[in-house]
Amino acid sequence: MAQMLRIAIQKSGRLSEKSLEIIKKCGIKFGSDERVLKEQASNFPLEFLYVRDDDIPAYIRDGVADIGIVGRNEYDEQAIDLQVLRDLGFAKCRLSIAVPQNMQYTGLACLQGMRIATSYPNILGGILKEQGVQASFVQVSGSVEVTPAVGIADAICDLVSTGATLAMNGLKEVQAIYTSTAVMIGRKQIGSSEKEAILKRLMLRIDAVMRAASYKYVIFNLPEEHLDQVSHIVGGMKSPTVTRLMEAGWVSVQTVVAEDTFWDVFEQLKALGAQGILVTPIEKMTE
Ligand code: PRP
Ligand code: ZN
Repeated sequence: MAQMLRIAIQKSGRLSEKSLEIIKKCGIKFGSDERVLKEQASNFPLEFLYVRDDDIPAYIRDGVADIGIVGRNEYDEQAIDLQVLRDLGFAKCRLSIAVPQNMQYTGLACLQGMRIATSYPNILGGILKEQGVQASFVQVSGSVEVTPAVGIADAICDLVSTGATLAMNGLKEVQAIYTSTAVMIGRKQIGSSEKEAILKRLMLRIDAVMRAASYKYVIFNLPEEHLDQVSHIVGGMKSPTVTRLMEAGWVSVQTVVAEDTFWDVFEQLKALGAQGILVTPIEKMTE
């Protein structure tokens, strides 16, 4: 039987939806039924394993899965010998110190001698050590936020995304110590040339989807006399496409613009007399 590449995805939580979305945008079809543990794509040699995000690095190391999508926090905390294949940029969150509403917090130093509940003893331990703070860790793998209320910890250090979990448990976020986004990880050696080839195909698609997300397709009309100046502003992939309009002295310009420079470019185009500026998202884009 032909080999499949196995990807581990968080079963449910912060990372799940966006992880599946990026794979779907790669044109890969599957059911994404949360009740199953494992399923196969119907049009690509990829098999999905839906598990807890915290378990993903160890699954990849042990060969249960070949690649996976986790927060960089899990990758850094577990320090297992893997590699980051891509920074996917979504699921931005932070690892923060949170304390009961009525506790006064003046900085990391005030945690001296306290009991801190966390699933991130390595990341937190490194930061406290740097600051010369000694605290004891209450290591829990889930429901960290309830530990102060039940009296087994004085403070917690946990991931915060929207802040809803902390608020629901009467805790206040007092200091962010680390930030994280989703990364695609894998073993340094995947161990099969067939799987390596599948991974290469998948990465090509993921790169095209990610690149497309960071660009916009822009079309506008422009007085021809300003074409030279505009070509310096909007480089496009090679150069902008220019077509003549019926009205003498006017052209239509089509090009791609990086999302993060878009508003700058927009203002400069307006200043040069551009009209009817039309902006559309790009679905896929290769170099
Ligand atoms: C993290 C963290 C909180 C939640 C915070 O869990 O442990 O439970 O996210 O999010 P919020 O600020 O939006 O409320 P994670 O997604 O890693 O799931 P897990 O607890 O199953 O590992
Ligand atoms: Zn988790």
